[in-house]
Amino acid sequence: MCGIIGISSNKSVSANIINSLKKLEYRGYDSAGIATLSDGEIIEVKSEGRVDNLENNFDLKNLKGNIGIGHVRWATHGIPNQINAHPHSSHNVSVVHNGIIENSTILKKHLINNGHKFKSQTDTEVIVHLITENLKTLELEYAITKTLKQLHGSFALGIVFKDIPDLIVGARRGSPLAVGYGPNENYLGSDSYALKAMTNKITYLEDGEFCFVKKDQVLFFNEAGKKVNKKILKLSSDEASYDKGDFKHFMAKEIEEQPTTIKTGIKEYIDSVNKDVNIFNFPWNIDEIKSITLIGCGTAYHSCLMAKYWFEELTNLDVSVDIASEFRYRKNRFKKDTLYIFVSQSGETADTYAALNLCNKNKMKTCSVVNVIESSISRESNFVLPIHCGPEIGVASTKAFLGQILVLYILSLKIGFLRNEIDRVEYKQKIKDLKTLPGLIEKTLQHDNDIQAISSTFNDAKGSMFLGRGFSYPIALEGALKLKELSYVHAEGYPAGEMKHGPLALIEEGMPVVVLAPRDNYYKKTISNMQEVIARGAKVLLITSKSKDEVVSENIWETIEVENTNEDLFPFLLTIPLQKLAYYSALKKGYDIDKPRNLAKSVTVE
Ligand code: F6R
Repeated sequence: MCGIIGISSNKSVSANIINSLKKLEYRGYDSAGIATLSDGEIIEVKSEGRVDNLENNFDLKNLKGNIGIGHVRWATHGIPNQINAHPHSSHNVSVVHNGIIENSTILKKHLINNGHKFKSQTDTEVIVHLITENLKTLELEYAITKTLKQLHGSFALGIVFKDIPDLIVGARRGSPLAVGYGPNENYLGSDSYALKAMTNKITYLEDGEFCFVKKDQVLFFNEAGKKVNKKILKLSSDEASYDKGDFKHFMAKEIEEQPTTIKTGIKEYIDSVNKDVNIFNFPWNIDEIKSITLIGCGTAYHSCLMAKYWFEELTNLDVSVDIASEFRYRKNRFKKDTLYIFVSQSGETADTYAALNLCNKNKMKTCSVVNVIESSISRESNFVLPIHCGPEIGVASTKAFLGQILVLYILSLKIGFLRNEIDRVEYKQKIKDLKTLPGLIEKTLQHDNDIQAISSTFNDAKGSMFLGRGFSYPIALEGALKLKELSYVHAEGYPAGEMKHGPLALIEEGMPVVVLAPRDNYYKKTISNMQEVIARGAKVLLITSKSKDEVVSENIWETIEVENTNEDLFPFLLTIPLQKLAYYSALKKGYDIDKPRNLAKSVTVE
């Protein structure tokens, strides 16, 4: 959840470290810091807040050193301030860390008893002093192996040593870490994104491994300290996606990119000539599967919930959905005939990754729906379905959500068809309808000025509710999540039929309530629930689909109509106005849309 960069070179590294830290800010942005080695000394600079602050506070252009490590932090132990910012250093070692050291309190006590002095409230500082202590009696490799064994929890580490002028040590357990190769220099990064401007040659460390990165050599070791050989992967170049272009924010760009997201997904997974789904070579016999469990966090969890409705509609499988942080610690009854599907944009979310590991350990059938194909979740699943939507930089997930639900919808169609659980004609028709989706999304994106105007009402209210039934319920949850994470107003997603069992008590005069009621099987029921909230004073924004029949209800505050389509596809269209609502609310408040407070894009801590 924090970002790490390390560079060992034959020239000054500070400029490239700063550039990489700016790229890594999506992983954390409450403080930033750099340590370089120059003239046998560790030089450490760090600041609270963004990398810009660090640049304003220090003359980084003149920061000397041909080797250095940098870090952007998302606080876990200790408040976000300059003292707790990484790197943390002793007289001879400096460390950057992503993850959580679970036994830090015990280790700290022990180190203090041995005379070590601590400056910060972080768990990371324990690692610095452990290495310093172990180096008193052991050679470097042994000191590292011993230190890693003493640590419980998760980590990706970058370490430099005052007395070893060209070496960065990297180590991984639970949190991702990559090595990159350049001309006369080599790199360490918490993901390939940070390294892409410098190289497209990457090696990923596996759990338990550590590495020695020098400007002209990289060595890898396993947990026991034995040297291992590893492959170098070549990454594709998609630099254009890392640029905001004419947009004010990545989020605005990513919302507008969604017709392309869907077009690409369709191109990858649909055979338009034969009207078939191009997903073959399942590593299991689909007929033997009796149930599906979908697992994810946050927005990806909402994609899982969405998929449950489609899988239940299009197959006869039992479907359950789980939040990864719950699944990983519950007593699960693993069943051989269950297919476990993991959904994650980053492919690195710690809880989702741990849930996958648990299933792999129990020899379950695992499939992942990911955006980052080089990610840990992707590499460790039996079967991978990439969403192909390109880098998503805005912290709030938008195009990845649409990409995830598209792939899950297509998968449910294919599985239903292979198992003869949906009719051939219906299957072909649904595939044909899918081809219209990019155009329908383009039309929905044209709702812009109306949503901008509406958004102020949500900002001025104490709270708001998002209601839907059936296929629209997961979208209501997603709409509420988007609004709360971006504009920091309380928003609650609810099944519309559940309001009378408690939440109706929250409705008061003027409270904004979004009702999602496309003309599907649930329409009439949802409209009745809408009338119940209007009767109690709610200001209802109705999002429905175009129809020749008028909506039979009075006192609706505002209505937005999306295009009419096959009812499976409404969720895609309903999502767009909700993303825009959240975007414009945050824009009016002047909030940092691409980096909302307290959040990070890649959540690699549990
Ligand atoms: C919300 C959001 C998060 C992520 C969640 C899982 O807009 O982006 O809720 O969906 O942190 O992340 P991934 O999909 O990378 O596993």
